[in-house]
Amino acid sequence: MNIKIAVGSLLFIFGCKLMPRNEGKEITSSKQMAGKIFYNMIETDSVFQYTLINKNGMLVKILNYGGTVTDIITPDKNGKMGDVILGYDSLSGYMQKGNPYFGCLVGRYANRIANAKFTLDGKEYTLAANNGPNSLHGGWKGFDKIIWSVKSFNDSSLALSYLSKDGEEGYPGNLSVEVMYSLNVDNSLKIEYNATTDKPTPVNLTNHCYFNLSAGTDSTILDHELMLKADKYTPVNETLIPTGKTADVKGTPMDFTVAKKIGKEIAQVNGGYDHNWVLNKTGNDLEMIASVYHAASGRYMEVLTTQPGIQFYTGNFLDGTLKNTRGGLQYVQHAGLCLETQHFPDSPNQPAFPNTILKPGESYHHVTVYKFSIK
Ligand code: BGC
Repeated sequence: MNIKIAVGSLLFIFGCKLMPRNEGKEITSSKQMAGKIFYNMIETDSVFQYTLINKNGMLVKILNYGGTVTDIITPDKNGKMGDVILGYDSLSGYMQKGNPYFGCLVGRYANRIANAKFTLDGKEYTLAANNGPNSLHGGWKGFDKIIWSVKSFNDSSLALSYLSKDGEEGYPGNLSVEVMYSLNVDNSLKIEYNATTDKPTPVNLTNHCYFNLSAGTDSTILDHELMLKADKYTPVNETLIPTGKTADVKGTPMDFTVAKKIGKEIAQVNGGYDHNWVLNKTGNDLEMIASVYHAASGRYMEVLTTQPGIQFYTGNFLDGTLKNTRGGLQYVQHAGLCLETQHFPDSPNQPAFPNTILKPGESYHHVTVYKFSIK
């Protein structure tokens, strides 16, 4: 029997009002196994951490709090395992004010909606202005801060669900959401998003992992080489809202059509990269659209998606002040990079952008895969 589950269950049974001293820590140093451990309480709700494992020993750990991926542990070119995402040592880290969405699921609408307002079928809806004048990542209590229900769990997959009620964070319609994480034998983590609604509503779901393929060796991702299959991006105004136009990347620092080091031209981009790229694809097929390579470790990650866009964000607002970071690492500016597959920011106010309104009777379905290997 998995001792972590046993100890976790005891804490769960006897410790509902107590904070376990070993919060979020491994209780045994034995070989890593799939399983579920008690992580902590949020008021009367229990937070668990679910570990997926494949036959190569790759591990992915996920919380029911925010559907947050806390760890992705993959081998480097010498077979040494390391955690390739930024994270914390405890739930208090994930819950701290200013946690910049490490590893979580983002919804009901990922990225920004201008002036925290949109009009749908002639009615104006007001959202939380939680990012200057704009609404960011679903509002004050987005899908990153709720406890998801666990529909199923085994060694290789975790299925989560959540019913976002009509009016929650100002959005119309009861939105029923399901997210399935699966770890496959080819060292890929697949994330499938499904949703239905009973009233028309904007929906844009993503995951917000901050990758650093050095697994704690490099303090920034500036040496990582990025490739993006995108000839265009959506320029933004000073509050990071798209102007509504698309612009060619050719001849600019935004051009990643041929892999280049992220640090090469970042200084020419005001504040660092934090933009939506228009992927060179049509339709909803699952296609490889991005890759990241870290030469020193040999780690290589490919991103496949059904989505039309990707937010490439270089952790510009990280400043080394986050608490409870994994192993006490200081997460300085550019410590991690996000590749958030998505529809374009502010689409509910941008008629020229691909549609993000889900209607009753329709099914929202998107898939994103992060696939790890060695080069
Ligand atoms: C946004 C950034 C934001 C970050 C963390 C990204 O998706 O594009 O502007 O700072 O999330 O909130």
